[in-house]
Amino acid sequence: MSKPFLFLALLAGAFVSTGFAADPRGATEPRPIPPLMYGSAWYPEQWPEAEWDADLARMRAAGLNMVRIGEFAWSSLEPSEGRYELDWMERAVAAAARHGLVTIIGTPTDTPPAWMTTKYPEILRVAEDGARLQHGSRRHFSIGSEKYRVLCREMVDRLADRFGRNPNVVAWQIGNEYTEDSFDRESRERFHRWLEAKYGSLDALNTRWGTAYWSQTYTEWSQIPMTTGRANPGLLLEYKRFVTDTWRDFQRNQIEALRRRVDPRQLITTNLGGLGWANRFNRQHIAADLDVISWDEYLGSGWFDKTKNGTGHLDPLRSGATHDLVRGWKQKNFWVLEMPPGFVDWGSVSNSLDRGETRAMAWHAVGHGADCVAFWQWRSALNGQEQYHGSLVGPDGEPVPVYEEAVQAGAEFTRAGPVLAGTEPVSEVALIHDYDSRWAIDFNPFSQRYDQMQILIDYYRSLREATQAVDIVTPEMDLARYKLVVAPSLNVVSPALAGRLADFVRAGGHLVLGPRSGMKNESNALNRERQPGPLAPAVGGRVEQFYALLEDAPVSGPWGTGKATVWAERLDRLAPDAEVVLRFGAGNDWLAGHPAAIRRPLGKGVITYLGSVLDDTLMRRVALAWVKEADVASAVVSARAGVKVSRRVGGGREVYVITNFSTQAQEISLPGAMTDVLSGGSTTVARLPRYGVAVLSRETSSGK
Ligand code: GLA
Repeated sequence: MSKPFLFLALLAGAFVSTGFAADPRGATEPRPIPPLMYGSAWYPEQWPEAEWDADLARMRAAGLNMVRIGEFAWSSLEPSEGRYELDWMERAVAAAARHGLVTIIGTPTDTPPAWMTTKYPEILRVAEDGARLQHGSRRHFSIGSEKYRVLCREMVDRLADRFGRNPNVVAWQIGNEYTEDSFDRESRERFHRWLEAKYGSLDALNTRWGTAYWSQTYTEWSQIPMTTGRANPGLLLEYKRFVTDTWRDFQRNQIEALRRRVDPRQLITTNLGGLGWANRFNRQHIAADLDVISWDEYLGSGWFDKTKNGTGHLDPLRSGATHDLVRGWKQKNFWVLEMPPGFVDWGSVSNSLDRGETRAMAWHAVGHGADCVAFWQWRSALNGQEQYHGSLVGPDGEPVPVYEEAVQAGAEFTRAGPVLAGTEPVSEVALIHDYDSRWAIDFNPFSQRYDQMQILIDYYRSLREATQAVDIVTPEMDLARYKLVVAPSLNVVSPALAGRLADFVRAGGHLVLGPRSGMKNESNALNRERQPGPLAPAVGGRVEQFYALLEDAPVSGPWGTGKATVWAERLDRLAPDAEVVLRFGAGNDWLAGHPAAIRRPLGKGVITYLGSVLDDTLMRRVALAWVKEADVASAVVSARAGVKVSRRVGGGREVYVITNFSTQAQEISLPGAMTDVLSGGSTTVARLPRYGVAVLSRETSSGK
């Protein structure tokens, strides 16, 4: 089939299959957000306007229904101070609409223009070593700059005035991938004011930080350093909280401008990067002020460095956990606003995903609760720092090989969108991921073998295999909706948090506290009570000592037999109704014969303390025991190695999204006759080739 004919055939197909008939005038009535948004980053300011229609037509032919524009366009929107050029953006939004695509506008605050950084150098970011960034890249602004907040506000005001009622604009992305904090003078002064507002007096700060240690005692607020090096634990934790509050304030400045001016139907989000797990700041706090949270899914270690277990291909377990982490920040569905079409350009080896892997990656995200998948980027940029990056069309605007995969996924998204609308993953299990605890352990891991993210992923894998969904939430979130809450590495436990968790148990919840829990208070100081600190009375036991292990230690008991590895805590049972469910065997004289895990009925629920990292086999067995004891619904569709099964529920139906990342074709038995959403018809088995995808639905009696 010749290229032009193929293109016309695809174009014709797009009009039929994508749900939105192209609208020659662009919508006059507000366009609804498609039930499953499928789009791409597009930079109209980087291309001749005469080429826009061809690009948009090809996006349409691939089944895309959304474009995201503007997040790096400040120099095109305000070429000189006070001279605003927004017409081109309005024409781009209208052009997209004519092709049936809705628009997400990014505020351009990740890239202040050269005239601005020249006239107002104080807005430039200063690195921790004191070097002030120069113009020429991005993220060169200081989040602490008051002047920059004013300049951002002025720009966002104008964008909001111009596009806040535009029927084709469905959402706003604040900035782009919040990343670096700044160590400039203004930020330092802001930090000192923040501390004074929090502590009230230096006496209070010195007391809570224990600054008599090494004569750190501060007599002036200005003496307090901003540092990420080895420093006072209280200082380090407060600095992270300050950075979080500063990003939140930076974001609120723009949210307030938008909320005043834009139609409430236009949602506000931001696209968090850093492979999801980045902990420069507390991402749940950032998400709290947004309508929907988004993240940018790249492979992470897959492309960074093969020695970091990176394979250059999707790790569906870690990817799924990250989706669930993002979903947990608001406990609702989320958007993936960037996904690589095949490959990136920043990997140690920027290998391409396998044929079919990009489509499977997109569906895998949807299964975990993504209601939007967008690619970065649409077309190879002719110049700039990312010329080699994966795209859907090349520099000539012509499709590249992965484009056909995008077309297939596009037609599938359009078909499945209405079925998935109103559904979300529903979990009875929550894993706790707490930023304060993560930072406290990061500041002094005590053992380089203690990889708290890997430990959390190990807990996640064991629980996910036993059930069909696991939420990952911070302790601030609503825990009452869960039957089982599991908290590995919950290092910082305040009396207030302890009270909430104990209440959860007394009301009937099952709480498992994992290694290193309850060691610190909210000033990152050691709790006076032995671990788990203020939760020790509820647990009915305590940690006599913690140990970083060089050799594994045997454990056995009602939970089974196996090994403690990497980390072990010697427990003491204090309450008569606390049961020892794992005990250390011979080998380590500090541990031999002592409890390794205890459980205790409390009120209507059960609280468990497991002070050791367990070997994988025993971990799986124990997680299954927790799931059964808490009466958590078991996985209905069994997932073989490499086959990922996700379930979304809502509107009286359940939808399974099954993706096969194994190297073999797989046949998965279903729990009964289900509608095959992608190919039609009814089936009781899903037969998947490698990177195969099945989307299966049926009505649910319970409605959930
Ligand atoms: C990040 C940024 C994008 C682009 C991609 C490249 O996610 O948000 O602008 O640089 O990385 O992978």
